[in-house]
Amino acid sequence: VIFSNSNEASIKVAQEISDLIRKKQASNKTCVLGLATGSSPIKVYEELVRMHNEEGLSFANVITFNLDEYLPMERENRQSYYFFMHEHLFNHIDIPEENINIPDGTVSGESVIQYCLAYEKKIKNSGGLDFQLLGIGRTGHVGFNEPGSHYNSGTRVITLDHITRVDAAPAFLGIENVPRKAITMGLATVLSAKRIVLLGWGQNKAEIIKKTVEGDISSHVPATYLQQHGNCTFVLDVGAGTEL
Ligand code: GLP
Repeated sequence: VIFSNSNEASIKVAQEISDLIRKKQASNKTCVLGLATGSSPIKVYEELVRMHNEEGLSFANVITFNLDEYLPMERENRQSYYFFMHEHLFNHIDIPEENINIPDGTVSGESVIQYCLAYEKKIKNSGGLDFQLLGIGRTGHVGFNEPGSHYNSGTRVITLDHITRVDAAPAFLGIENVPRKAITMGLATVLSAKRIVLLGWGQNKAEIIKKTVEGDISSHVPATYLQQHGNCTFVLDVGAGTEL
């Protein structure tokens, strides 16, 4: 779906998320959201916060799982996805702290594997992802599933692609400060969501959006696996849709 601008598009996506939360509330169920970081979802979060403040939208029944976190990364670090999510969403809504799940960038050594398996298990035990929000990286990654990621992959440690580190460099004040690794939900984890919405804004995403939507399904462009999902929508602005 191509909108004339990203603001209008983000408000529509936030509306879908709030409708889902309310629907689950009405039947006394939890709503399990998979959440993304990056610049793309910021307006969606802003709109959800507005709905909380002005329309009484409650997040008391919401459980969240974030896609990824840099490794190593302290929570308190301004570049952490933990910091990002609290700044843009969690600090402003009534979600219980224990319902928030973000991969822990401080785990190390042997325990990382156990940690990733436990993260995966926690998603399953919560009932699975009802809704997964995604952005897309220029390498075609979703979460941090870089080129080469297997469609059957679960939550794991990944080595970041050079292009991804270049794109992250301004936020870290130089590429030498960008971590080389990350923990990411896998492609199988993402694809297990009942509903997926991918956000793409601006012309610098147009090329990767074209490859993802119209190209062959391949691990060279991990986001192409979304073509096989039965309930996935790409929400774009005019700029991101120019090559389609
Ligand atoms: C990072 C995140 C991705 C995100 C991507 C695009 O790599 N790990 O989840 O989709 O950036 O970011 P942006 O939305 O800022 O373009």
